[in-house]
Amino acid sequence: MSALETAPPRTPEETAAVAAEMAGKSPHEVLRWALGAFPPDRIAIACSFGAEDVVIVHMAAQILPGVRVFYLDTDLLFPETYATRDRVAARYPIRLEQVRPALSLEEQARRYGDDLWARDPDLCCSLRKVEPLRGVLAGLWAWITGIRREQSPTRAHAREVEWDKKFGLVKVNPLVRWTWEEVWGYIRGNEIPYNPLHDRNYPSIGCIHCTRPVKPGEHFRAGRWAGFQKTECGLHE
Ligand code: ADX
Repeated sequence: MSALETAPPRTPEETAAVAAEMAGKSPHEVLRWALGAFPPDRIAIACSFGAEDVVIVHMAAQILPGVRVFYLDTDLLFPETYATRDRVAARYPIRLEQVRPALSLEEQARRYGDDLWARDPDLCCSLRKVEPLRGVLAGLWAWITGIRREQSPTRAHAREVEWDKKFGLVKVNPLVRWTWEEVWGYIRGNEIPYNPLHDRNYPSIGCIHCTRPVKPGEHFRAGRWAGFQKTECGLHE
């Protein structure tokens, strides 16, 4: 029997069997499988409101109206990102959830000093993104992300469906094989709301203090944590 017809995968081995069947399938097919296989309250889209994520929300909202979508609100997102959130929430039938850090910015400054992001971005990411993410994922069996192979060498081997060892659940990456051009063709073809910072040389958008625009010829994630030997915040390893 096909691994796609059995109960949803809950272990690394079961996930590997599904991954083999999903390899090379289109984003729609991957999403259709994932949103049908897992109970709707046990699967959610991690949405940063970047180009990949609005594509996924667009597709998923058609497949499963009311689909769970969460965003990690670090309190340090760009105003353009919050505006994109509002446009996405108004357009799609989704259950949008704000996920907050345990500490407010003031509490963080009291405990760790001012501008932690400029001194220890790993700790700041951990407090404001990774630990809040761990909290949401604890209640899920699968999460859906917008990572693509093209984005960085660390993502070059990502698969449509994989076991997330760090957080202990299934990770679904419908766009792994898409190029940046395919993402934009889909956004424009479907008039999907997107973050206007993308039109101002921000291909990859994180927090306000740790994201800058890229210059011509720079790679996709060059604007993230520029000046530090840091390429990932700890969500994807
Ligand atoms: S990051 O790890 O460096 O921040 P990146 O910005 O490339 O990640 O985004 C990769 C994927 O991680 C996104 O497609 C999305 O699924 C998830 N993600 C990143 N930031 C957030 C966020 N603030 N809230 C929810 N999901 C996020």
